[in-house]
Amino acid sequence: MNTLAGKVAIVTGGASGIGRATALLFAREGARVVVADIDGEAAEAVAAQAVPEGSVVAVRADVSRPEDCRRIVATAVDTFGGLHVLFNNAGIIRRTTALDLDVEEWDRVMAVNVRSVFLMCKYAVPAMTEGGSIVNTGSGWGLKGGGNAISYCASKAAVVNMTRALAIDHARAGIRVNSVNPGDTDTPMLRDEARQLGEDWDAFASDAADRPMGRAGTPDEIAQAVLFLASDAASYVTGSALVVDGGGLA
Ligand code: NAI
Repeated sequence: MNTLAGKVAIVTGGASGIGRATALLFAREGARVVVADIDGEAAEAVAAQAVPEGSVVAVRADVSRPEDCRRIVATAVDTFGGLHVLFNNAGIIRRTTALDLDVEEWDRVMAVNVRSVFLMCKYAVPAMTEGGSIVNTGSGWGLKGGGNAISYCASKAAVVNMTRALAIDHARAGIRVNSVNPGDTDTPMLRDEARQLGEDWDAFASDAADRPMGRAGTPDEIAQAVLFLASDAASYVTGSALVVDGGGLA
């Protein structure tokens, strides 16, 4: 299991859910990984669980802030000697329509979900001196839209299209840029949404309208798709939007 042997990776939002599963998978596949998260304690816990030991370092950082993004990239280069893979995964959701959303909340969702991708790429691309792979986390809702989450839908559509722009701009530097677009995935974020909507988790997770397979995805199932895009197995894949949603878009 050495798909990412010799590679250095950054995973933002790597302390929970999809990011955590991906960081641990990357480490098992031979990468050395920087887990960056606003929750520093949880990021440290992921680093402590990683196998092999010492393959993951934690950085407490808010990816909406330029100085934090610069520090994340510097940590990868200074600690592990370079950078090859960037998984822009940190994200937040606000479950409201336009009518109930404050301007400040709109700005926060855009800063965490969209500005972070711009900032991380701005600092990571120059550090990818041997080429590399960037994977941005979109969403099924970034492609088809969805109810009661206007800022989130706008932010994820932006991520999908920024991905194409980045792919075109940096292809000649040997840097591939793709988005992974999960459907509902069993993470703390989604369980929290179900709670906020007052829905029983089991009923929510098996809702047939959105989930033809009768269940939500697991973080590991998304991580496997990210691993493919990050790896040399995807050497001719760039600018694409890979949907991993159990048929929810169908
Ligand atoms: P999660 O809430 O379990 O994990 C998100 C992580 O991002 C947390 O550790 C959190 O502390 C961190 N984070 C939040 N704001 C941050 C900031 N400003 N700076 C640094 N770290 C920050 O969420 P989950 O479900 O694992 O989501 C990961 C990504 O997948 C997000 O971009 C989300 O929008 C996307 N996604 C999730 C889906 C789902 O059903 N769970 C479906 C489609 C997309």
